[in-house]
Amino acid sequence: MRVSKEQLLELMKKKLVKAGLNENAAMDVADVLTFADHRGIHSHGAVRVEYYAERIAKGGITANPNYQFEQTGPSAAVFEGDNGPGHQAAKQAMEKAIAMAKESGVAVVGMKHISHSGALGYFVEMAAKENMVGISMCQSDPMVVPFGGTEPYFGTNPIAFSAPSNDDRIITFDMATTVQAWGKVLDARAKHLSIPDTWAVDSQGEPTTDARDVHALVPVAGPKGYGLMMMVDILSGSLLGVPHGVHVSSMYKDLTKGRDLGQLHIVINPAFFTDLGQFKTRISTMLDELKAQPAAEGYGEIFYPGERGRMRSEKYDEDGIEIVDDIYEYLISDDVHYDRYHGKNRFAE
Ligand code: NAI
Repeated sequence: MRVSKEQLLELMKKKLVKAGLNENAAMDVADVLTFADHRGIHSHGAVRVEYYAERIAKGGITANPNYQFEQTGPSAAVFEGDNGPGHQAAKQAMEKAIAMAKESGVAVVGMKHISHSGALGYFVEMAAKENMVGISMCQSDPMVVPFGGTEPYFGTNPIAFSAPSNDDRIITFDMATTVQAWGKVLDARAKHLSIPDTWAVDSQGEPTTDARDVHALVPVAGPKGYGLMMMVDILSGSLLGVPHGVHVSSMYKDLTKGRDLGQLHIVINPAFFTDLGQFKTRISTMLDELKAQPAAEGYGEIFYPGERGRMRSEKYDEDGIEIVDDIYEYLISDDVHYDRYHGKNRFAE
C-alpha cells in the first residue's frame, strides 16, 4: 500500500489519540514515525504504532506527561520524562539543547525515565538544521551478547550524528551498535530464509544461520561495537541514574509500567570553535570529494551517511510511502489492540 506523507502522519496521529495520547504528543510521535518511514527506516515507523498504542492504553506510556527540565550548569541539563512518549521527550530535549548551545557553545542534555524514542536521526537533524552538530544516543532493551558471551547484556544502543553543509545536504549518520536490527531477523523468519552467520548467536553463543534459532544479536565489529554500546549505556544510562545494561526494562514484558529509559543529546555550536561559514564549506568540500571518489566494483557510487535515505524520501514524495498492507489495515481500523504484545519476550514472541 502506498500513502502520502501527510496521510500517514494523520493516520498514526489518530490511532495514538484513540489509544489515549493527548493531541500534541500524538502529533510529535507521529511526526518522528513518519520521518522514519519517509526515509525508508521502516523498522522504526508505522510498524511500531500497534505496540505503542497498546502500551499507552495499558498505562505504560504516560498519556499526559509532566516533563521537568532542569539546567544544572551552563552547558548541562537534565530532562525528566515522566515515562511519557520518548519521541516527544527527545524532541523537546533537543529544542532545549539547541537553545542552550546557542548561548554556551555546547549543550549536553540527558533524558531520564522516557519511553522508546524511535529513529534518532530525527533529533540530530534538528540541530543540523540550526547550523549545529547534533549527537544523540540511547538505551534499548537487552538483546545483544557482550563480545564472546552467550547471554544478552546490552541493548542495540544506537548512536546518531548530524552536521550541516553550506548547501542543502545534511550528514545523518544513524546506527544501532549491532550488526543487524532485530527486525531483519524477524523478516527472515517470516520468509523462512536463513541469515548470514555474522548477525546473531544461538543459546551457546555460537554463530547461527537459522533465524528461528537466534538467542541474541551480536555487536557490530565485535569488541569495537561492544565497547560502543557500553559507552552509549554509560552516557545515556548510568550518567542519568536510570537502570543499566541487563537491568534496562524489556520492551514487551510489562506494558503497564514505564520503561525508565535514558537518552543523551550533545549539541555543538561550530560558531564557538571556528568560522561557521568556513565550517559548512569544509563539510560541503568533504562531501564533494567523497562523491568524486572512485567506487569499487559492484558499488556504483559512494554515498555519504544519510544520502540514500534522502533519495528514498524523494522517491516516496513522487510515488507515495510504501506501507505493509496489514499495517495500513490496522491504522484505518477502529482497533487499538490491547493484548498483542504484553508479556512477550525480548523478541516479541
Ligand atoms: P542502517 O544500518 O540502515 O544504517 C546505518 C548508517 O549507515 C546510516 O547512517 C546510513 O545512512 C548509513 N548507510 C547505509 N548504507 C550506506 C551506504 N551504502 N553508504 C553510506 N552510508 C550508508 O541503520 P540501523 O543500524 O539498522 O538503524 C536503523 C534505525 O534504528 C536508526 O534510525 C536508529 O536510530 C534506530 N534504532 C533505534 C533504537 C531505539 O531504541 N530507539 C534502537 C536501535 C536502532
